[in-house]
Amino acid sequence: MNVLVVGNGAREHALAWKLRQSARLTDLFIAPGNAGTAALGSNLPVQTSDFAGLLDAVRVHRVELVVVGPEEPLANGLVDYLTEHGVAAYGPTRAASAIESSKSFAKEVMASAGVPTAAARSFDGLDAAMQYLDELEQQGAGPPVVKADGLAAGKGVAVCDDFATARAAVAAALQRQVFGHAGLRVLIEERMTGPEVSAHAFSDGVTAVPMVYSCDYKRIGDGDTGPNTGGMGAYSPPGFLTQADEERIRRDVIEPVIAELARRGRPFRGALYPGMMLTPCGPRVVEFNCRSGDPETQVLMPRLTTDLLEICLAVTRGALADISIGWSDRPAVGVVLASGGYPGDYQTGLPISGLDTLDTDVVAFHAGTRLSGDGRALTAGGRVLTVVAAGSTIAEARARAYENATRIRFDGVTFRTDIALREIATAPNSPRL
Ligand code: AMP
Ligand code: GLY
Repeated sequence: MNVLVVGNGAREHALAWKLRQSARLTDLFIAPGNAGTAALGSNLPVQTSDFAGLLDAVRVHRVELVVVGPEEPLANGLVDYLTEHGVAAYGPTRAASAIESSKSFAKEVMASAGVPTAAARSFDGLDAAMQYLDELEQQGAGPPVVKADGLAAGKGVAVCDDFATARAAVAAALQRQVFGHAGLRVLIEERMTGPEVSAHAFSDGVTAVPMVYSCDYKRIGDGDTGPNTGGMGAYSPPGFLTQADEERIRRDVIEPVIAELARRGRPFRGALYPGMMLTPCGPRVVEFNCRSGDPETQVLMPRLTTDLLEICLAVTRGALADISIGWSDRPAVGVVLASGGYPGDYQTGLPISGLDTLDTDVVAFHAGTRLSGDGRALTAGGRVLTVVAAGSTIAEARARAYENATRIRFDGVTFRTDIALREIATAPNSPRL
């Protein structure tokens, strides 16, 4: 079977890497892909927004399944478009993707389904939003979180330490329109506290099968300092998550939301990813994503022991209940290597060395990379690679990920040194790297 993966990040490299292991796979295509995916299949020069170009590629290359990685084409209806043209596609429809592309819709679904989350109100008008902030402040409530309703490339959330910041965030979105259309509605949300966990589940619209759990690191700097990024690392599993928490997330979040979306005629088929916070009142939803996480996918795929192609087919055919999905017990840690200056300005086109020196079972999933004319890997983006290692313990996986990551060189390379450190920081004499 020929398969096309849509996207060009390390998440898509990880999906392509796992699909490549399937005995049922014939040819693999990635649009547009990167230097890493070029080693697994054929990169096609078609952008993820070019739906007609993707359909042409499907026809030319006799593709029987399309796997869509990023949220943008999902929210814009790529799966609807392919399905209308008779092509099987893994990922939610535009209507089901609204669980991520409209935070107010997600809140409404959660309210109907009784899912625990932060209290929130949505506003389209500046005056009403500012008045609500005044009321909250007068009532003695803590400073809230202000969120752009739509997709804002991970930049639309302001976790405020005071009301002045909250007012500025509301004005930026509704008045100055810094997030464009995505910020013309804002959510003003109660601020929660607690450690965060990424939950993921495969769903065929009816059945939901939770994946193993993971944690990502969003800030650029050690100790969660500095600006937000597309993700600087991840690990799986989080040792602090209890079985009771996992059970509550499945029973109180994943299953009710899948059922509620089906009830509303928007069955969710693909990977549902609720970002969770373990608050003093129990696990509560921070946000929903309509696709698998980046960089979480890079640590989840190495732990998946079931054929991903079988899973994707079962999802598209509504047959998830007929298969069983297995996971390795070995923890995995992924460290993102980024360009110097990221998430601000950075240089690209820099040669990357050391990729051929990694241990055979350590993988460098590519994101911002491309091949030079003579076949060498060059940097081509802010986040360049995710180096992922497994181990018999999280400490071993972490040590191996960092040891391998430091063999890779490019000018200005930067990475966090504390990925998964919290899992082992309690062990005496544990090395920082
Ligand atoms: P999001 O873009 O929705 O993933 O939000 C980015 C980050 O903002 C989350 O990972 C949280 O760390 C933080 N955040 C979002 N909503 C809340 C909330 N209600 N309370 C506290 N932190 C939040
Ligand atoms: N890891 C955050 C995201 O994929 O949205």
